[in-house]
Amino acid sequence: MSNVLITGGAGFIGSNLAHDLVEKGNKVTIVDDLSMGRLENLVDIQDKIIFIEHDVCDHEFMHELLLKNNFDYIYYLAAVASVADSVERPVPTHKINQESVLDTLEFIRANELKIKRFVFSSSAAVYGNLKASPKKEDMPVQPLTPYAVDKYASERFTLDYNYLYGVPTVAVRFFNVYGPMQNPESPYSGVLSIITDKLQKNETFTLYGDGSQTRDFVYVGDVVAALQLVAEKTPISTVYNIADGGETSLNDVIHTYEEVAHRKLDINYLPKRNGDIDKSLADVTKIKTLGFKPKWTLKDGLKEYWDYEEKRSESHGQHE
Ligand code: NAD
Ligand code: UD1
Repeated sequence: MSNVLITGGAGFIGSNLAHDLVEKGNKVTIVDDLSMGRLENLVDIQDKIIFIEHDVCDHEFMHELLLKNNFDYIYYLAAVASVADSVERPVPTHKINQESVLDTLEFIRANELKIKRFVFSSSAAVYGNLKASPKKEDMPVQPLTPYAVDKYASERFTLDYNYLYGVPTVAVRFFNVYGPMQNPESPYSGVLSIITDKLQKNETFTLYGDGSQTRDFVYVGDVVAALQLVAEKTPISTVYNIADGGETSLNDVIHTYEEVAHRKLDINYLPKRNGDIDKSLADVTKIKTLGFKPKWTLKDGLKEYWDYEEKRSESHGQHE
């Protein structure tokens, strides 16, 4: 049994991770300010976790938390996860996406905290619009947005704290993660959570661009497995792509989803978003050396997601 801290653990990836870690008998503490996360994501495990509603940018609070608990693993997932939001609000998002990360690393170093691994969640966004494909971890990067700049800098700090001071760290670059418990309520939410919501409500989906932009969509169940693999098995402090290794255009993912859901999505086209990436595909050779093997095809993952959301809306309907 390990003692685990998940920042951003009421959010999409964090709450899925928390469920799996609790099921495996670990002690899980979550810090989340609920800006995007939802308590509903943790309701099944609420008696088995310690949940603290708080801002990770409150350094004093984080210091006390780290000092009082001997965490083995820290999964640092708290962030403003939206690229578009960072373009609108570069300064506030920087405080969360970079400053809070550096402060936590520095506190761990200065107090010689005996953690087993600090895992930082970086992003495929760091690769930008460079032509080479698929994207490999040792390729040049091109962070085009405040989000990508902060992710890249935080990822480098994460690795540097190992290189300079011996803190056991690792960074992961998630590609486009989808699945249950992603909050669709912001216009900046992940595209598949918005599409799911629109399909359920029979509302119009706004597509920015012509739908030819591609992403490497990976199911959250595979991401939860990959995160633990990386935390527990990486032989060195380095960065890993976490993705499926398949490239799908937005138009194609919509067609597949329509088949799975047996519904037609009404689409309104608007111009491409500022800073949006055209093509994204990962090389997943490196994480496969740790034993990573994605279990969900895109179709299976969308089916599982759709069924989950349908059940959820039925049970909400019954309670209302
Ligand atoms: P999410 O928005 O669902 O989760 C982030 C969580 O952090 C939310 O619950 C939010 O309430 C919380 N949070 C935000 N600011 C906070 C603050 N100041 N203090 C405390 N909590 C705060 O997003 P997600 O998709 O679960 O992403 C998790 C991590 O993975 C993020 O760092 C994100 O940048 C990164 N990432 C996600 C994807 C993806 O496709 N979902 C891809 C690449 C990287
Ligand atoms: C996503 C993640 C980001 C991560 C990156 C890694 C979210 C919110 N964003 O960004 O954290 O670092 O993957 O690759 O989880 N779109 C529409 N209509 C909408 C919403 C989106 O057309 O209503 C389009 C976007 O313009 C974009 C594509 O869909 O072209 C994907 O958008 P989004 O889900 O926000 O993903 P990324 O920007 O790739």
